[in-house]
Amino acid sequence: MKKLIAGNWKMNCSLEEAKLLIADVINGVYQNQALQGDNEFVIFPPFIYLPTVRHALGNHTFISFGAQDCSPHDKGAYTGDISASMLKDSACTYAIAGHSERRKYHCESNADIKAKAEQVIKNGMTAIVCIGETQEERDGGRAEEVVQKQLFESLPAGAHARNTVIAYEPVWAIGTGKTASETDILMMHSFIREALEEKLADAENMRILYGGSVNPENGPGILKTPNVDGVLVGGASLKAQDFLAIAG
Ligand code: 13P
Repeated sequence: MKKLIAGNWKMNCSLEEAKLLIADVINGVYQNQALQGDNEFVIFPPFIYLPTVRHALGNHTFISFGAQDCSPHDKGAYTGDISASMLKDSACTYAIAGHSERRKYHCESNADIKAKAEQVIKNGMTAIVCIGETQEERDGGRAEEVVQKQLFESLPAGAHARNTVIAYEPVWAIGTGKTASETDILMMHSFIREALEEKLADAENMRILYGGSVNPENGPGILKTPNVDGVLVGGASLKAQDFLAIAG
C-alpha cells in the first residue's frame, strides 16, 4: 500500500503564497521519480483556495486534494457551511473530519464528526477522521480509553478501508515540536488497528496516519513504523521542500 502523505495547510497562506506553494509541491514531486512510486500526496488548502489548487494540479495524478472540514448537513440554511456535495463538485477526493482544532475551537463532538464523515463518504470521497488525546489525558493514563471512545463514536456508518482513513494526532504533539516517540506511535497505532478489527471486516487495510510535529528529520522514521500508513503534516507542509523530504 502506498503511504499517504497529507499536508494540512490549516488557515495559512495568501492567495499568492498558495499558488507558489502548490507549484513548488508539483515541481518537487515531478522532479523526484522515487517519491511518485511509493507515496500518494494529498493537499488540504483552506476552502477558498480549493479552485486554485485544482487549477494548478490540472491532470496531475500523483497529488490529490481535499477540504479541511465539511458540513454535517446535506444542504440548506446553514450559513457559512460548505457541504460535502459542494466539495465533490469542486473535485475534492478527501475531506478531514474532526481535527482536534475543530473539536477544541468549534466544540465539535464525536457525533458531529461522525455526521460529517458520513456526508463525506456518502458523496463518494474519503473521510480522514482525526482522533487523539490531550497531554492531561495521557498523563492520567487514559490515552487509549480516550482514543478508543473517539474512534468508535466518530467512525462513520458504512466505513471501510477505501472510504475512511484514521489520523492519530495526539493534541500535545500538534504544533508543539513535541513529536510522539516511535514507540508511542507503534503502541497507539497497533491499539487502533486492534480496535478497528472489532468493528470492521477490512480493518487490516484501513490506513492509519500519524500527525503531530512531523518534519523532515522524524518523518522517514515514523513512516517506517509498523501500522503507520502515512502522515498528516501541518507546519512542515507549508514549505514544499520540507513536506516532500518527509516522504524520504
Ligand atoms: P503540526 O505538523 O504543525 O504539528 O500539525 C499537525 C496537524 O495538526 C495536522 O493536521
